[in-house]
Amino acid sequence: MISRKKLIAGNWKMNKTSADALTLVADLVASVGRQTDVEVVVCPPFTSIETVGKAIEGSTLKLGAQNMHPEANGAYTGEVSAPMLRALFTTHVILGHSERRALFGETDAFVNKKVLTALKNQLKPVLCVGESLGERELGLTLKIVQTQLEAGLDGVSKDLAPSVVIAYDPVWAIGTGKVATTEQAQEVHAFIRSLLTKLFTEPVAQKVRILYGGSMKPANAPELLAQKDIDGGLIGGAALEARSFVELVTAAAAAK
Ligand code: PGA
Repeated sequence: MISRKKLIAGNWKMNKTSADALTLVADLVASVGRQTDVEVVVCPPFTSIETVGKAIEGSTLKLGAQNMHPEANGAYTGEVSAPMLRALFTTHVILGHSERRALFGETDAFVNKKVLTALKNQLKPVLCVGESLGERELGLTLKIVQTQLEAGLDGVSKDLAPSVVIAYDPVWAIGTGKVATTEQAQEVHAFIRSLLTKLFTEPVAQKVRILYGGSMKPANAPELLAQKDIDGGLIGGAALEARSFVELVTAAAAAK
């Protein structure tokens, strides 16, 4: 069986000025910037991408963006493209986060365009999928996840699929302090792996990292990260402080 390196990604969302971002990332570089057991990605707002990119130079930390437009350039006021991110040495990009879907009207088709563009530009997409509380209560969790996953990955080749990271972010667990139980999370992660097997074959599905996102914290991380199909975390709140984020990286290293 292939062993997948755990991945811990910090999604800073709309937090931190460049100066604050620099303070945080300097702490992270000092604490976990040399270890290679866990892949660590920090995703600051666009305004801090360059500053954070320079601060992680020479460390093992990687740089991610929180969003991206599918076109390379043009009249898209307020947007940022894949070549712009690549020029600042960004390696990952979060796509289809539930906040983008819910607050900014992003559809599966639009997210799919971004996934394909990211891959074309050698950016690793972190494709987010997940159900709302209402959908879970109606028993629609797996259906919603399947729709978002299949639509988001439409047209992705078997060769490029291992570069994709999937994040299962149950919307009801994001920023709410309500974490999915390990059983709830593992069930959906295993389901996602089975869908990836159907789409890309078993060996490819075994290579894809599937992260859990939604109130992951040092206290609940070890149990979640011990699950067979949970390959890391997409961390919001707990990524905003060096201490909790470093503890999550340590938990992932211990779970490998
Ligand atoms: P949270 O965010 O850790 O603050 O719940 C997670 C996410 O948005 O993926």
